[in-house]
Amino acid sequence: MNFLITGAAGFLGSSLANHLAREGHQVRGLDDLSTGDPKVLAPDVHFTRGDVSDRPKLWTLLQDVDVVYHLAARVSVPESILYPRDYNNVNVGGTVALMEAMRDVGVKRVVLASSGAVYGDLRDSTLTESATPNPRSPYAVSKLSAEYYVRTIGNLWNIETVSLRIFNAYGPGQHLPPSHPPVVPHYLRQALRGGTLVAHGDGNQTRDYIYVDDVVSAMVAAATAPKCRSRRRWPRRAAQPRSRECPSRTRSRSRARRRAGARRAIRGRAAS
Ligand SMILES: NC(=O)c1ccc[n+]([C@@H]2O[C@H](COP(=O)([O-])OP(=O)(O)OC[C@H]3O[C@@H](n4cnc5c(N)ncnc54)[C@H](O)[C@@H]3O)[C@@H](O)[C@H]2O)c1
Repeated sequence: MNFLITGAAGFLGSSLANHLAREGHQVRGLDDLSTGDPKVLAPDVHFTRGDVSDRPKLWTLLQDVDVVYHLAARVSVPESILYPRDYNNVNVGGTVALMEAMRDVGVKRVVLASSGAVYGDLRDSTLTESATPNPRSPYAVSKLSAEYYVRTIGNLWNIETVSLRIFNAYGPGQHLPPSHPPVVPHYLRQALRGGTLVAHGDGNQTRDYIYVDDVVSAMVAAATAPKCRSRRRWPRRAAQPRSRECPSRTRSRSRARRRAGARRAIRGRAAS
């Protein structure tokens, strides 16, 4: 199959691109390198530097593409609180530009990397897919808006759409910014340096974590999930496919739990 991955030089995008290329697929990657690094991509991933809102570039890159993975985004919750307009421009405007270009070229399926952040802070220990979103940051609003645009434009132009509400991913290749670093690599670095591990709140785990390979598995399944209209309830602690067409069958919960050795030590709030 032929794929275009936006945000291909990022943490999740590069893992997905390298996986698909290893499987023998044709993979094109687009990234403006605002945070991504193209050196992490395998040589057979065809990389193009550019902005996800650049429609002429998208028209070229989308030729003969079967499925688009849309991962390009600004991803910092604290930064989104300072610069909501930028988050709206990239995460919402970029998504709309991509959907327009897909409509123009006639690409038939898109998989959006949305976020568990759309649910906001939850008190219940379980979460169903039908829980009402309650975004608490401009980042979360931008991901929910992107979901609605993808779904609405998809409905209007007969483009199949899948949105995956990914929770906190961790694994090799994850960026470690100096402020608000993700908790898993931050704790690992601190532990390796003999540093302090600071737990916030009452020490209980308030977030869920998923290993990068499990996110990639969910995304791969989302590209080929057959069209259907059934609705299923999804447990919390999974990458939750949302689609008018078909929830992916990938259940990453148990694998993620098996990888939970490191995770059990975590009792703090993550940064992203
Ligand atoms: N990692 C997680 O835990 C997590 C959780 C929920 C959702 N997501 C979503 O998954 C996607 C990928 O996240 P990630 O963790 O790999 O983040 P990342 O920052 O590593 O990847 C995002 C990539 O998008 C690129 N980018 C940013 N603006 C762009 C633009 N205007 N045009 C082209 N490229 C642009 C960046 O350079 C970067 O390489 C994002 O959409 C994010 O919202 C990630």
